[in-house]
Order: sequence, then structure tokens, then C-alpha cells
Amino acid sequence: MSTPSPIPVTLNNDVTMPSLGFGVFQTPPEETVASVLVALEAGYRLIDTAAAYGNEREVGLAIADSQVDRADVFIETKIWISDYGYDSTLHAFLKSARKLGVDQIDLLILHQPLPSEFKLTLDAYRALETLLADGKVRAIGVSNFTVEHLRRLLDATAVIPAVNQIEVHPYFQQRDLQTFHTEQGIHTQAWSPIGGITSYRENGARTFDDPTILAIAESFGKSAAQVMLRWHLQEGRSAIPKSTKPARIAENFDVADFVLSEDQLAAIDGLDERVRRGPDPADITLENFGMKIPEA
Ligand SMILES: NC(=O)c1ccc[n+]([C@@H]2O[C@H](COP(=O)([O-])OP(=O)(O)OC[C@H]3O[C@@H](n4cnc5c(N)ncnc54)[C@H](OP(=O)(O)O)[C@@H]3O)[C@@H](O)[C@H]2O)c1
Repeated sequence: MSTPSPIPVTLNNDVTMPSLGFGVFQTPPEETVASVLVALEAGYRLIDTAAAYGNEREVGLAIADSQVDRADVFIETKIWISDYGYDSTLHAFLKSARKLGVDQIDLLILHQPLPSEFKLTLDAYRALETLLADGKVRAIGVSNFTVEHLRRLLDATAVIPAVNQIEVHPYFQQRDLQTFHTEQGIHTQAWSPIGGITSYRENGARTFDDPTILAIAESFGKSAAQVMLRWHLQEGRSAIPKSTKPARIAENFDVADFVLSEDQLAAIDGLDERVRRGPDPADITLENFGMKIPEA
């Protein structure tokens, strides 16, 4: 039995996208087919992968093996920085599409800005614009861009990104960037939406143990993860929680039957420590992170 799907979001080019999706970062390829099948069975209709995750092929296999029509699944993937540049990015689309086993990708985004090689980043985005014009992708966007990166992109290119996928969880909320998105018509998609990164990358406080979140969760008979997901959805963001555990995959989708009050939303807003857990976009260079993405 699947739970009702939260209301979709309409992107700036009128394409609709589920507001709650399924992430597969750090999901080993050998566990990806089973995880995505469980997610589709639970009701998820957005899968977020990336060339750099090494599991696009398994995401595609799971969708093909599932009972769900390809047309009913929103596939999002990301171009890695070693494939930036106009021609390289056009080719990177082909690599991803072939691994996924599809002709068209629903949302294709640049995984990171490459501040040291911003011209390459712009050329990569121009390739996304071409893919959009040619109908190879339904929407294009970016990830981990700051306000400064977005301004430089907007000044130099024609299509406003539909999405910026960024780190947002109760301990790091990027409010100035979110406000800029709203002004420009860019949708905010939260990665590590339940603060997984506070758990797998850190020894400090974990969002899952936060007393404010747990108190709200207890009042509804829900989990901390469910409360955090509800917080994103009610504030207009989409979220792409990851799990390889069937019970958690289902739990994270089961968020349609309760509503946080304005005070509860404000209490979670108040948890922002303004400290990034993921890599600083300024530190992303081809030298440090330029691993090659294999051919299909
Ligand atoms: N654009 C980017 O640079 C970027 C960066 C990071 C992530 N992402 C995307 O965002 C997705 C989600 O981010 P994320 O994986 O970093 O973090 P997340 O979804 O916030 O949390 C995932 C972590 O929390 C655990 N977990 C999942 N559900 C849980 C629950 N209900 N209760 C307790 N623990 C739970 C998972 O472990 P188990 O698997 O063991 O359940 C995993 O360790 C990724 O999969 C990826 O698609 C994008």
C-alpha cells in the first residue's frame, strides 16, 4: 500500500516535479536496484542520482523492472565537473541517458560550480540549454551554486535554472540563497534534507537527536525524519531523502497525514547554525575532485 504523494511543484518552465523524491548518493550499485524498487513501490516518483554516484545504470534497471511506467517517474541526474565544457557536457548527457536506459532525462543539473574554471561551468550550462531546446531534457538546473555563482550564470546565459539543489536541513538553512531563488524563480531542492550529513560526516549533534524536532515528532506520533520532511514541503522546498532500508524508505514517504503549525515551523527555522557540512563550493577543483566518469 503506498501513501498519498505530496503535492508536486511546478518549475519555472511549467514542468511539474514531485516535491518528495528518493536520493541514492552513497547507495552501492549492488543495493541500488532493490532500494529504488522499494521506493517506487512505496510511492516515490522522483529519483535523484548523479553520474558521480556510479549507480545510474542500476537506477535505470530498477525503473525498467518496476510496475511503474517510465513516463510516471521523474528522473533527475547530474553532470560531474570532469565533463564540463560544451561538447563534453553534451557527451555526458549521452553517457547518463545510456546508463539510465532512457532517451530523455527529466531534470539534468550541473553537480557543482567550478569556481576556478567558471568558463567551463558556463559552457557546460550552455550545453544543458541546447539539450533543453532539443527536447533531450525537460528541465535544467544547477546544484551547490551560491548567490554569486548564480548571478554570474544568470548574466551570461539565457535559461534561468529551474532548480538549485543545495544542502538544506535544520542545522544549515541557507536563507539568503533561498530568498534569492524565490526572487529569480529558481526552485530550492534540499539535499541531505533530514540532515543525514550531520550523522555520516560528523561527530557533533545529529538532527535525528535534536530535542526540538523530537518534541514536535512526539506530539504527532511521527519520527524526526518525517517532521524534517514536512518542514521542507510546507516551506515550499522539494526534498530527496536517501535510505537503503525498506522501513525508512516507507517512513520518509509517509508524511501526508500531519501538518506543522506556524510555531513549529518557526521553531525548526530557529535551529539554523549557519554552518555548512558539505564541501565548500570554493574548494571544488578539477585537481581535487576531477575523477573521470566512465563511458556507458
Ligand atoms: N547535490 C549534491 O551535492 C548532493 C550532496 C549530497 C546528497 N545529495 C542528494 O540528496 C540525497 C539525500 O542526501 P543524503 O543522503 O546526504 O542525506 P539524507 O537523505 O538527509 O540522510 C540519509 C542518511 O540518513 C539515514 N536515514 C534515512 N532515513 C532515515 C530515517 N527515517 N531515520 C534515521 N536515519 C535515516 C540514511 O541511512 P540508511 O541508508 O542506512 O537508512 C543515511 O545515512 C542523496 O541521496 C543525493 O541524492 C546531493
